[in-house]
Amino acid sequence: MAPKYTISIVMLLLLSQFLILFKTVAADYIPPAKSDGFGYKIRSIKLDSILVEAFYDPLCPDSRDSWPPLKNALHHYGHRVSLVVHLLPLPYHDNAFVASRALHIVNGLNTSATYPLLEWFFENQEKFYNVPTRNLSRASIVKKIVKSATEVVGESHYKSIKNGFNDTDTDILTRISFKYAASRGVYGTPTFFVNGFLLPDSGDSVNYTAWRKVLDPLVGKKGVKNEEESLRFFL
Ligand SMILES: *[C@@H]1O[C@H](CO)[C@@H](O)[C@H](O)[C@H]1NC(C)=O
Ligand SMILES: *[C@@H]1O[C@H](CO)[C@@H](O)[C@H](O)[C@H]1NC(C)=O
Ligand SMILES: *[C@@H]1O[C@H](CO)[C@@H](O)[C@H](O)[C@H]1NC(C)=O
Ligand SMILES: *[C@@H]1O[C@H](CO)[C@@H](O)[C@H](O)[C@H]1NC(C)=O
Repeated sequence: MAPKYTISIVMLLLLSQFLILFKTVAADYIPPAKSDGFGYKIRSIKLDSILVEAFYDPLCPDSRDSWPPLKNALHHYGHRVSLVVHLLPLPYHDNAFVASRALHIVNGLNTSATYPLLEWFFENQEKFYNVPTRNLSRASIVKKIVKSATEVVGESHYKSIKNGFNDTDTDILTRISFKYAASRGVYGTPTFFVNGFLLPDSGDSVNYTAWRKVLDPLVGKKGVKNEEESLRFFL
């Protein structure tokens, strides 16, 4: 082998080592200290309940449409079915990352306010993506989202929400959500998993009947418990 090539190979090896080192530094918050996701009305997931995981983008119309039937199904099953929502801010929905970050900020301030804010984004999402925001600066979008989130969560939280957008930790949490979705192979929203397995037909809005069809047999296998008990666990 000519010395010239040997040098090139050595250089290449050094470069790859450097890239590996750089990548490790850049990703040092993986794995995160806490699992990704927002539990719905639950403080901790019960291992014996059926777990639905929903990957949502707060600014995705299909995510919005799929939420009411899923919510109805969750209310029907009580503590027998748990939900964890993971955020996947999609690059082709403008401001999805900022909206997702607002959810992480609010979740850090008051866990119970996370879902009300998610529902607020679903109801008002047209204001935040694509044409209506084309001429707006990122700073003005953040300002608008801070103002709206404050209205949902309560005036007393205005400063904390505003500061949240300056806090690297909330940026990292939102990146973790994105990376988590990517690591599960999720590339669109909504995507659902039931007990860890991808729900076939994801992408279309799964209606209430469809959820009952999926969950009834699973709940049935565990034996039906009385509703009073389920209410007690359901907060
Ligand atoms: C947390 O959020 C919930 C739901 O929006 C609200 O009812 C509750 O008062 C909030 N708690 C605090 C301490 O702000
Ligand atoms: C954005 O700005 C351009 C140029 O000033 C204008 O023609 C367009 O109507 C504006 N779009 C919106 C959605 O405001
Ligand atoms: C956020 O950081 C920017 C730049 O560092 C600063 O100008 C701004 O005042 C900060 N905002 C808040 C709410 O702390
Ligand atoms: C619910 O979804 C299923 C499967 O996609 C469909 O066959 C059914 O017609 C839908 N039901 C309603 C009430 O929309």
